[in-house]
Amino acid sequence: MPSSATILFAALAASGTLASPLVSRWGQNCTVKPLGPGQDDAPQILKAMGDCNNGGTVVLGAAGDVFNISQRMTWNLQDVGIEWNGVLKTEIQSQATSLIISGHNIHIDAHQTGGVDGSGQVFWSYYFNPANNITKNDGDGRPIAFTIQHASNVVVKDFHIWEPILWSSLIDASYNVTLDGMVVNATNTDPMGAGKNWTPNTDGFNTFRSDTISFKNWKVICGDDCGAIKGNSTNIYVKDFACFGGNGFAFGSLGQYQDQEDIVENVYIENLAVSRIDSRVQPNMGNGIYMKTWVGVKNGEPPISGGGGTGRVHNVTVNNLFVGNATYAFQLYQTSGSAGATSGLPGAGVDKNTSTLQFSDITFNNVFGLTTQPKAISVACSPAAPCHGITFNNVAVASNDGTVPSYSCSGNSDGRLFGIDTKCT
Ligand SMILES: *[C@@H]1O[C@H](CO)[C@@H](O)[C@H](O)[C@H]1NC(C)=O
Ligand SMILES: *[C@@H]1O[C@H](CO)[C@@H](O)[C@H](O)[C@H]1NC(C)=O
Ligand SMILES: *[C@@H]1O[C@H](CO)[C@@H](O)[C@H](O)[C@H]1NC(C)=O
Ligand SMILES: *[C@@H]1O[C@H](CO)[C@@H](O)[C@H](O)[C@H]1NC(C)=O
Ligand SMILES: *[C@@H]1O[C@H](CO)[C@@H](O)[C@H](O)[C@H]1NC(C)=O
Ligand SMILES: *[C@@H]1O[C@H](CO)[C@@H](O)[C@H](O)[C@H]1NC(C)=O
Ligand SMILES: *[C@@H]1O[C@H](CO)[C@@H](O)[C@H](O)[C@H]1NC(C)=O
Ligand SMILES: *[C@@H]1O[C@H](CO)[C@@H](O)[C@H](O)[C@H]1NC(C)=O
Ligand SMILES: *[C@@H]1O[C@H](CO)[C@@H](O)[C@H](O)[C@H]1NC(C)=O
Repeated sequence: MPSSATILFAALAASGTLASPLVSRWGQNCTVKPLGPGQDDAPQILKAMGDCNNGGTVVLGAAGDVFNISQRMTWNLQDVGIEWNGVLKTEIQSQATSLIISGHNIHIDAHQTGGVDGSGQVFWSYYFNPANNITKNDGDGRPIAFTIQHASNVVVKDFHIWEPILWSSLIDASYNVTLDGMVVNATNTDPMGAGKNWTPNTDGFNTFRSDTISFKNWKVICGDDCGAIKGNSTNIYVKDFACFGGNGFAFGSLGQYQDQEDIVENVYIENLAVSRIDSRVQPNMGNGIYMKTWVGVKNGEPPISGGGGTGRVHNVTVNNLFVGNATYAFQLYQTSGSAGATSGLPGAGVDKNTSTLQFSDITFNNVFGLTTQPKAISVACSPAAPCHGITFNNVAVASNDGTVPSYSCSGNSDGRLFGIDTKCT
């Protein structure tokens, strides 16, 4: 049983396990080189995806090449390999998503040189500069950097996402997708944003309506959820995943859409590390893991507000969670959207006890590290659907100010958190 950060970080440094080369079994090659300054590379890339569809290999440049993408692209592929050596730099600010990959049997190898550059710094510097007096909200048309949607049997290997404007990646309505060896970096470098979170919503990944999805060997530097498991995500596997800054690893938000059932089931996480970084670069490090739902009644329209959804989170196992000065090691709340809540944070209005989305059979084995305040674990389940079967085996989390750690729990039909024997009041 690993008991120290050293062992865990050794595991995180281990390289991917997939056989390489990934894409060699496919024949015809379509090679694309950047056209050069002032030109849009999207048309020639779309042509290559068409020409090499159904059994070919697309080669996107060489290491160091940068492609200029100034239009939204959807690739619909069947049996295609992509040697993604170069970087697709997007220059779009008003599209809902910049790149969607759909289809069946798609193998992408970016060889640690290729990926997507969302050009987020321009956006961050403009929108978060107080002199410009502009507020950006969720659902305002910012693009997701990399989307896999309506796809099956997809492998993405050694892929980089730089400067996402919104979420780095989304896996939606897909089956059997593996992303192995991903680096996400949403780091603001504008000195005016030093010590502030100028990179909100830059989640590492989101899953939605998807089954059998694996995330291995990830490193995420961001200002929001380093991963977020959203509604109807089943059989999710996460291994060797490192988060730097942001809110932590999320389940949710769930239950935001009235009368809609959000089901999260069979999640396995092994070796997850969250670490606070230099506060001038990123001031936030909220949680190791947090799980959150909206209240059980609808308050306003999503995506800014919402609530009233139903569902469950069931059968989650976390083995080895390292907490490097996050505010909480683990937090669960079901009060998003209640009065007093802002942007998905807990509120405490009269409807705060109304969520019927139920949490059960959640087990943590080996939780270790430091929090920045004494409350290491805070579990506040909705009395309208009391949680049960929440277990913590081997918790060694201390507060970095030296005070004795504490645990709290409410709304639990077992009356306690197993393993740390905290009474749920
Ligand atoms: C296609 O490209 C790959 C990778 O660059 C190379 O290994 C392979 O030999 C090429 N195949 C053909 C038919 O040119
Ligand atoms: C990208 O393409 C657009 C559209 O052709 C063009 O206006 C822009 O200058 C290009 N950007 C770069 C960096 O080449
Ligand atoms: C900032 O924008 C808001 C809303 O558009 C406006 O009410 C306010 O007066 C502006 N503040 C400044 C300092 O311009
Ligand atoms: C999942 O996708 C991989 C990669 O394409 C493939 O090798 C594997 O057979 C698929 N598994 C299932 C259960 O479809
Ligand atoms: C992330 O980006 C920042 C700013 O560009 C850079 O200083 C840092 O080295 C990058 N980190 C990684 C791991 O790529
Ligand atoms: C999630 O699954 C449930 C149960 O199958 C279904 O009722 C609901 O519509 C699904 N939600 C979405 C967003 O697909
Ligand atoms: C619980 O999830 C694990 C994956 O973490 C899976 O192997 C197991 O079969 C699930 N148990 C049940 C009862 O579905
Ligand atoms: C956590 O905080 C403590 C005390 O302030 C410090 O010694 C330690 O280096 C920090 N660790 C991380 C991972 O930030
Ligand atoms: C919520 O439920 C708790 C526990 O049953 C109770 O003490 C509290 O008064 C309730 N609060 C509201 C606003 O209903």
